[in-house]
Amino acid sequence: MAYNVSAETYCFFLFSLLFFSFSFSEAQKVPAMYIFGDSLVDVGNNNHLKVSLAKANFPHNGVDYPGKKATGRFSNGKNPADFLAEKVGLPTSPPYLSVSNSNNSSVFLAGVSFASGGAGIFNGTDELYRQSIPLPKQVSYYSDVYEALVQQLGSAAAQDHLSKSVFAVVIGSNDLLGYFNSGSNDRKESTPQQFVDQMVVNLKAQLKRLHNLGGRKFLVTGTGAIGCCPSQRNQNKTSGECNEEANYWSVQYNEGLKSMLQGLKTELQSFSYSYFDAYSVFLNFIQKPATYGFSEVKAACCGLGNLKAEVPCVPISTYCSNRSDHVFWDLYHPTEAAARIFVDMIFDGSKQYVNPVNLKQLIAA
Ligand SMILES: *[C@@H]1O[C@H](CO)[C@@H](O)[C@H](O)[C@H]1NC(C)=O
Ligand SMILES: *[C@@H]1O[C@H](CO)[C@@H](O)[C@H](O)[C@H]1NC(C)=O
Ligand SMILES: *[C@@H]1O[C@H](CO)[C@@H](O)[C@H](O)[C@H]1NC(C)=O
Ligand SMILES: *[C@@H]1O[C@H](CO)[C@@H](O)[C@H](O)[C@H]1NC(C)=O
Ligand SMILES: *[C@@H]1O[C@H](CO)[C@@H](O)[C@H](O)[C@H]1NC(C)=O
Repeated sequence: MAYNVSAETYCFFLFSLLFFSFSFSEAQKVPAMYIFGDSLVDVGNNNHLKVSLAKANFPHNGVDYPGKKATGRFSNGKNPADFLAEKVGLPTSPPYLSVSNSNNSSVFLAGVSFASGGAGIFNGTDELYRQSIPLPKQVSYYSDVYEALVQQLGSAAAQDHLSKSVFAVVIGSNDLLGYFNSGSNDRKESTPQQFVDQMVVNLKAQLKRLHNLGGRKFLVTGTGAIGCCPSQRNQNKTSGECNEEANYWSVQYNEGLKSMLQGLKTELQSFSYSYFDAYSVFLNFIQKPATYGFSEVKAACCGLGNLKAEVPCVPISTYCSNRSDHVFWDLYHPTEAAARIFVDMIFDGSKQYVNPVNLKQLIAA
């Protein structure tokens, strides 16, 4: 008897669980993700650029990717764009430059990625890396996609589709790193405060363009503790300490970004967003590595020289045997393990790290 009761309870529980997860996923269906940004989320756009120095379509990149394939991701495996897609139940949005010649705008319906390694908010940041697709150009490419969707679906259905889609924007690190490069022109032309303020102004203009072109739900990430990436630590060979100036201005930029987003929400009623505090999560990795399963937070996994940051991850470089205990894959980019944790936090992290709502809540709203 007791057995029967518990079996019944068990079945009921299972049924409720199935029913609940079914209705949950139905209610949360995201038709598409449109991705904008830099190498943190590039899934192969730069492979299509002729002379770009910012490429990753060679070993040892991709050593942990299915088929050990170097796809153009700056990672040992998957990058945050892949994990974002997994979270919302979509295939990874394909690189725009791999589908832009398609004679079938249906390919745009499940999302597209415009992200490009080396890209910045400013057109000029591109000059440093020759070449990449700066954010203003990424948004111009998106406007072509928008036109194609309107043609295919009609205006009302296209707006409806886009209003449920997620627009992810992961950018800013290259602008900051470029500024703090010794001998940069930006540094001669503006103070750090003027520079980060102008980043925010220019990003706001691009977000407004996307909103004009149907974007409603935005995931915007702040910049990380860029002063602690191996390339910056390597600037102080004796201590290997973080570049505190770069970190300080990353925080200042993030402050400006947060208030800009709040302002945009007031200005545009239909604009909603999740802001992800990548900086704090990065700092947690460094301060409490064991909590996250990391044992190496300073050195890159793949590279050569001091902190493996003197030579980038190219075929002649060596790479560490255990990629899941390293925060950094190469001198700038996180490992797959770190990327997975970032995206877990973006999706259902607490307000401390993602606000005013996390991505799960943004989608449900
Ligand atoms: C593209 O599609 C249109 C109509 O769907 C067709 O008329 C045209 O020939 C196609 N072009 C190419 C290059 O396939
Ligand atoms: C366009 O692509 C979609 C899915 O990618 C496919 O279902 C459809 O048949 C294609 N249309 C044409 C005209 O090729
Ligand atoms: C960036 O470059 C595009 C052309 O590629 C130009 O139309 C745009 O005005 C530029 N933006 C800024 C802020 O200079
Ligand atoms: C390197 O770090 C040490 C310890 O923090 C500091 O004393 C030194 O000034 C730094 N050197 C440079 C070149 O920044
Ligand atoms: C690699 O690192 C992870 C995370 O610290 C650890 O769980 C795992 O046991 C390590 N694997 C090997 C083969 O040492």
